[in-house]
Amino acid sequence: MPITTTEKIWMDGELVDSDQARIHVLTHTLHYGCGVFEGIRAYPTDSGPAVFRLTDHIERLFNSAKIFMIDVPFTPRDIIDATKLTVRVNGLAECYIRPIVYLGYGEMGLNPLPCPVNVSIAVWPWGAYLGDEGVANGVRMKISSWQRHDPNALPPAAKGTGMYINSSMAKVEALKSGYDEAILLSPQGYVSECTGENLFVVRHGRIITPPLSAGALEGITQDSVITIARDLGYEVEFGNLLRSDLYVAEEAFLTGTAAEVVPIASVDDRVLNGGQPGPITRQVQEIYRAAVRGQVDRYKDWVEHVG
Ligand SMILES: Cc1ncc(COP(=O)(O)O)c(C=O)c1O
Repeated sequence: MPITTTEKIWMDGELVDSDQARIHVLTHTLHYGCGVFEGIRAYPTDSGPAVFRLTDHIERLFNSAKIFMIDVPFTPRDIIDATKLTVRVNGLAECYIRPIVYLGYGEMGLNPLPCPVNVSIAVWPWGAYLGDEGVANGVRMKISSWQRHDPNALPPAAKGTGMYINSSMAKVEALKSGYDEAILLSPQGYVSECTGENLFVVRHGRIITPPLSAGALEGITQDSVITIARDLGYEVEFGNLLRSDLYVAEEAFLTGTAAEVVPIASVDDRVLNGGQPGPITRQVQEIYRAAVRGQVDRYKDWVEHVG
């Protein structure tokens, strides 16, 4: 899906025209992948556009930076305000939001500590990441031959730019093999997550999702879905899953800001629930869709208006 150009991008405290939002070819992060970022969405609500769980996303951005020892030259409040401003000035009712903290031009070599730290925030309209058909009828998943990183090689709690080469390898393998998306296993052989989404499985009526210790990012959509499912009365737990747990699951779905809540139709060609989205998946999907648009009173605090 090509990026739709929007008017302004926030760069280090200034709003610049999109075609002027340029960086030097010797930007450190371009060479070594040491940067951190977030993926956030804004949705239309009755009181105008609102960013879903913005404060939580920015908190995770700063935690990612802390893990990599990157000193962000702004406060979380600055970045929250800048995000709202960027959505506002571009006049979008609904968009994807990409803040990135990167090491800029001025130093080279593997010691990142002396590098200048830059921050930018871009927004653009972005439809269903795994396609409308996937949201409606489910996606076909392949267990990747690429493993999720060992937590002592790369920290799964951080959303680091260079870490995503692992996801990209798995994504390409899945697409080239005729599937929609990949599932990665941890070095210990447990189910970790998808390339840019967390994973949920329903087994024996209970909902299970892999923990951070299995290499999964602590997803904000994952957290929202856990709350929604518990409020619906379901038992939800973090737990280790084997690949065979996926093959015989009653239902399964994936969650992420970009993808939202997407049913899993099959895993390695083992069809789940007759290839139809299961009832729990559907229920959670519908409530999440309403919650992000500020239509569910008990989740109104998740919706942060841009003003
Ligand atoms: C590897 C990975 N796992 C899970 C997720 C889902 O996280 P969230 O729901 O916070 O978007 C993402 C997306 O940010 C991701 O990149």
